[in-house]
Amino acid sequence: MTEQEKNQYTLLLNLRKELEDANYQYYVLNAPTLSDFAFDEKMRQLQQLEQEHPEWYDPNSPTQHVGSDLFGQPQSHHTKKSRSGFEQVKHRYPMLSLANTYSREEIEEWLRKLPTNVEIVCELKYDGLGISLWYENGKLTRALTRGDGTQGDDVINNILTIPNIPKQLKTSTPPQHVEIRGEVLMSWESFERLNKERLEQEESLFANPRNAASGTLKLQDTQEVARRSLSAYLYYIPGNDVAIPTHQQRLAQAAQWGLPVSDATQLCHSIDEVMHFIHYWDIERKKLPVATDGIVLKVNDLHQQDELGYTAKSPRWAIAYKFPAEKQLTKLKHISYQVGRTGVVTPVANLEPIQLSGTIVQRATLHNEDFIRQLNIQEGDMVWVEKGGEIIPKIIGKESSQGDGVAVKGEGYQFPTVCPECGASLVRVEGEAAWRCPNEAGCPPQIKGKIEHFVSRKAMNIEGLGSETIDLLYSQGLLNNIADIYDLTQQDIARQERLGDKSALNILNSIQESKKIPWARVLFALGIRMVGETTAKKIAKRYPSIEQLQWASLEQLITIEDVGEQIANNIIAYFNDLHNLDIVQRLLSAGVQFETTALQPTELSNRLEGKTIVISGVFSQHSRDEYKAMIEAHGGKNAGSISKKTSFVLAGENMGPEKKKKAESLGIALMNEDAFLKLIED
Ligand code: IVH
Repeated sequence: MTEQEKNQYTLLLNLRKELEDANYQYYVLNAPTLSDFAFDEKMRQLQQLEQEHPEWYDPNSPTQHVGSDLFGQPQSHHTKKSRSGFEQVKHRYPMLSLANTYSREEIEEWLRKLPTNVEIVCELKYDGLGISLWYENGKLTRALTRGDGTQGDDVINNILTIPNIPKQLKTSTPPQHVEIRGEVLMSWESFERLNKERLEQEESLFANPRNAASGTLKLQDTQEVARRSLSAYLYYIPGNDVAIPTHQQRLAQAAQWGLPVSDATQLCHSIDEVMHFIHYWDIERKKLPVATDGIVLKVNDLHQQDELGYTAKSPRWAIAYKFPAEKQLTKLKHISYQVGRTGVVTPVANLEPIQLSGTIVQRATLHNEDFIRQLNIQEGDMVWVEKGGEIIPKIIGKESSQGDGVAVKGEGYQFPTVCPECGASLVRVEGEAAWRCPNEAGCPPQIKGKIEHFVSRKAMNIEGLGSETIDLLYSQGLLNNIADIYDLTQQDIARQERLGDKSALNILNSIQESKKIPWARVLFALGIRMVGETTAKKIAKRYPSIEQLQWASLEQLITIEDVGEQIANNIIAYFNDLHNLDIVQRLLSAGVQFETTALQPTELSNRLEGKTIVISGVFSQHSRDEYKAMIEAHGGKNAGSISKKTSFVLAGENMGPEKKKKAESLGIALMNEDAFLKLIED
């Protein structure tokens, strides 16, 4: 190999790895790392390299297969339960993706390869996730995700919750078997509602409706799926199950059967007609309730489709045109500064409101001082705002006609020197991009942020103390730090606006309950900089009590997995601060857990997350209390009585007959101790 070939080969390997990773992030984790555009660019580059060097062919290259949302290795059996808990079923016709184009020229190039006088059906490209519905003698029997293209997960129970998908075709003469493919979608409205809820619950947000829909379809809880109101559009009947000779007629048949088929389709005969459709919908799509990201062009005639055939990844008879990411010019009214829980000061762009990809945008993050200098922007500038797959809109630059180039980049911009909230002098640690307010114990958003973090679900799980209540209590001087929570009286809470005796009692109960939270979570709740949930668990495992942790040295701390010098220094700094020691002391006196006790091991897994388990009967291998601790250690919740919410009953010998009857009548499963231990072991 020449030097140049070696470089090309390295590039090719890197591209394969990057695309494989991106596929995994996108399809399995529902958290895209690359924009569609960047992904396609890299894919193209890889395709070109592989074309130039056929000797580097690899059947496992991302160019040779579609992305997969299956967990683990694909199975060769006809059906099998996947790790996600769904049955894996082989597609009767492979589920392929579409080649992408971005310009008129690329569409023309595709059209040139088609027979003359070809008819093209133009459709909207819905941005959700593909689904293949099986109707047997008119009845909906299976609903498969794309999976790896060859086999997918059968998510029929979730699909049955979607109101516009009929369970039965509207005809007295249904085909014996017919498959109809389409897209499952979450509307912008449902997406925003869901993210708002998740924000309140401190759960991670979905980047876009597509990810939200995909995450929803993978749930095992059909009630939750139903609550998130998905919808669907169907756009393709593959194979020869129906003898209908054109795509358009097939769609018309599907519509007659009562299936949700889009009206936004058009038969085109020329590139001009196609471009007209594209331009029309690039505007109109903004009024649609669901996300679209392009147009799909399909050869109408099925015979012609057959003749054109397929590549390994996509049909040659269809192609997608992707709309360019939406961007808009607007005025940067002013830059404000937000102080977070850890004191980081983030500049925020306050914009003249604009409509962008279905939502109104009036704020965008400017990240930090360097970012503002790089873009060379100032208040009053007209700036370009883009909303891609991410939730937070981005400012990508300012209008170039504004005569920059005259000034030195970023000249004239001055980051504030004092905290906008408390007036303390800001500091910028070397090597970090952020300016920080060091006044941890006296800066209001930092105080309130720390309390909010402390009470959050994954930390001390104190219910009822929302940010508004915290605000109120803080403004009256009743809540100045996390230790004050344990001094709150019923009176303090009950006299607040919109809170009464009942909510006060609930809050106090929840505060009481929080004293049982295991040490690892307490450590996370303290809010030491960069000590997240997982790191806290690892630290608590090594240091089973705060006394031991308090005296740990840097050298000792950095031997813990995930703990580098920076985190170690943050821990040491935390314990060097007298104010913090005072708070820890007060929490300790209040009864908060600062060590791992035999009955409260650190959290071992999240295998029982979301499960409410009732313990009943007499056990031989462990005591009841030990089982209780195990449930909690694996993320589950122990409840005293059986209700609709019970996930299962951990049943020992001699379970009370009343309980047994109740469980039976509600259809709640009983699990014996062996099965339970197996479930959490592994
Ligand atoms: S046709 C063999 N039509 O886009 C062709 N796909 O990027 C099957 N999609 O996998 C697909 N709108 O999930 C087709 N009107 C439409 C579509 C559409 C969205 C999705 C589909 C496909 C992906 C390809």
